[in-house]
Amino acid sequence: MTLAANGVSAAPQASAEPAGQFDRDDWASAFCNVEQELDSAPVPVVKGAIPAELCGTLYRNGPGCLERDGQWVHHPFDGDGMIVALCLGADGASLSNRFVRTEGWQAEQKAGRVLYRGVFGTQKPGGPRANAFDLRFKNIANTHVVRLGDQLLALWEAAGPHGLDPHSLETHGLSDLGGVLKPGEPFSAHPRFDPGHHGSPRMVTFGVKTGPRSTIRLMEFATEATAATEDRQGLEAGALISERSDSFNGFAFLHDFVITPNWAVFLQNAINFNPLPFVLGQKGAAQCLSSKPGGQAKFWLIPRDCGAFAGQSPRIFDGPDGFVFHHLNAWEEGEEIIVESINYADYPSVDPDQDFRSIDFGLIPEGLLERCRINLIHNSIETLRLSDRCCEFAMVNPRHEGLPARYAWMAVTERKTGNAPLQAIKKLDLIHGDCCQWSAAPRGFVSEPMMVPRPGGDAEDDGWVLVVVWNGARRASDLVILNADDLSEQAVLELPLAIPHGLHGSWMAAG
Ligand SMILES: [Fe+2]
Repeated sequence: MTLAANGVSAAPQASAEPAGQFDRDDWASAFCNVEQELDSAPVPVVKGAIPAELCGTLYRNGPGCLERDGQWVHHPFDGDGMIVALCLGADGASLSNRFVRTEGWQAEQKAGRVLYRGVFGTQKPGGPRANAFDLRFKNIANTHVVRLGDQLLALWEAAGPHGLDPHSLETHGLSDLGGVLKPGEPFSAHPRFDPGHHGSPRMVTFGVKTGPRSTIRLMEFATEATAATEDRQGLEAGALISERSDSFNGFAFLHDFVITPNWAVFLQNAINFNPLPFVLGQKGAAQCLSSKPGGQAKFWLIPRDCGAFAGQSPRIFDGPDGFVFHHLNAWEEGEEIIVESINYADYPSVDPDQDFRSIDFGLIPEGLLERCRINLIHNSIETLRLSDRCCEFAMVNPRHEGLPARYAWMAVTERKTGNAPLQAIKKLDLIHGDCCQWSAAPRGFVSEPMMVPRPGGDAEDDGWVLVVVWNGARRASDLVILNADDLSEQAVLELPLAIPHGLHGSWMAAG
């Protein structure tokens, strides 16, 4: 069906880049409104073949509506969440997509114009006067999509999850996860999936309420039904297994975290939040964040309830300089906890006067993969840079989450140093430093790669990497399937949809 939106599609504002750089028109053309909602539309394989063992659904989330009534969002992160489900199987591939029917999306669809402020600077028409003291957050459900129990959850970290039907993508509405969440309670968009550190697999996640003091509610959910034993009652998939709340001094901006068998690890960046320009209608809330000069980042380690330190108080250590949105992985090694993260030299702030389609990448710090060893006995940290190429969206084989991992897969820039759009996928040997790369340049732009292990495979890099690529030549999206070991191309599928540069997603194996 076609959405009765405003009928306006992409209108990229071109600006010439120096020779040898990416084509800005190609990159910016992905910032477009999605005007269709498809139901199991067939997806042609134009190169190679879908591996027979690769059966399941790739779910992706990201902003699908970037403009209403001629008004563009100030930043793509303010765009309404749109879910894509790409089903792969013996019968070929098909695609479905749906906007998450949030309260805000429905109201703005009906009105045909912007009714809400966005966290990243989108304002209602009428200037600061019309925006001052409107402190409502529009839950745009655009950051991540995961399966928990019998529903899909569309996540946005400042408020609760929306529940969706995993097959039809129909929105059921805000979910309290069976009474676990209070109305309006924040729920992270970055759950971590424990593959079975203590037996059955779990989804570990959190919500944070911040202010002069910040409180983290850590929650662990069963992702598979478990049978009753002598010591424990059986659980349904999606049931809450454990929770705890801990408070810390200071404002916290916690987008992501990592787990090990015994710990949940948070990195509190050294950052200030001055809400006044937000209250006065001059800036979005996220634009009120800034680096704290001379500030000290902190690692907050919270003992997991299933681990050896259950019930103990959190431990606090100094963190690295810079700013971290995303972590890669963490594990335990004797008296050390090792955390690998993508570190920016500074908080990449969102300029209130800048059009996001004409940003100067040269002015944005690059994200660099770093390893931080936290010594629990000596109360010290040691940091090591793992790569000089700008990267984002890194992951290890999901069977190694929270455990030592040799390989990582990530989206990287085509250029070797400095910031630029993400155009390539890299596999990095985290022990020896060897790497290989697959590139979509010059006209392709990659999103978060998804490493899918081969069913029954033993080797850590046995499987595939799925990546949705913006094809600048076709002005639409492709799904590229790479072999995870050497990043050779296994298949290219031309999707019948133009999907704007997206955020996070997950893979659900069939059956
Ligand atoms: Fe994220």
